[in-house]
Amino acid sequence: MYFDTHAHLDDEAFDPDREEVLRRIRASGVERVVNPGCNAASTRKAAALADAWDFIWFAAGYHPEDLASLTEEGYGTVRTLAAHPKCVAIGEIGLDYYWDTSRKEEQKALFRRQLELALELDKPVIIHDREAHADCLEIVRQYPGLRGVFHCYSGSAEMAKELLKLGWYLGFDGPVTYKNARKAVEVLEICPPDRILVETDSPYLPPVPMRGKRNDPGNLTYICEKIGEVKGLTGEAAARLTLENGCRLFGL
Ligand code: NI
Repeated sequence: MYFDTHAHLDDEAFDPDREEVLRRIRASGVERVVNPGCNAASTRKAAALADAWDFIWFAAGYHPEDLASLTEEGYGTVRTLAAHPKCVAIGEIGLDYYWDTSRKEEQKALFRRQLELALELDKPVIIHDREAHADCLEIVRQYPGLRGVFHCYSGSAEMAKELLKLGWYLGFDGPVTYKNARKAVEVLEICPPDRILVETDSPYLPPVPMRGKRNDPGNLTYICEKIGEVKGLTGEAAARLTLENGCRLFGL
């Protein structure tokens, strides 16, 4: 019943017990997961997980935080893996001005290059936008044929309206369950039901009441409960809705 459209199951946080976690979440009703890559090595790992598990798909991409490790050989690997039959998107890609503002132009160039790859391969994109809202919006506007999701959306309700008009989906994660989540809840309120995706961003961003622990897709239930509460649905209905939305965007 659940579709986690953004979980880093290849992360080393899962090295000690990955099989056990995957078996447990599959048994608990997680029907689909998209594992985005962050560089060549993690995209390769994500592809291997998708090969081994029938309920896992992946995305291929270079995260802006991985800019320093980018090589042409690595980019070629990501490009090749993007053609894999279980690669459903280019991601996660985008701009991150939280960690590093010194290489904005290089981040933008890498972002554009991957948006063009998505258009070339006719795949949706998974966008990471951290404290780079204006630049992300300006860039995606320049590619009207593009579709995809703003993962863990953290911009304003005003910008959300713009993105929704352009056809984008918005990803909601653990932070919607936090007490101080005013902005995320406001965005959820204005987001049409058919544009909501639910994500965990595992192993990061655990929802209430799992804060402080390693996050995994089994915690989607808490995020779906909250989405349901805001949209006047049961948690189960929110789960079904976001599963359908994810399948539509990623062509599953
Ligand atoms: Ni992520």
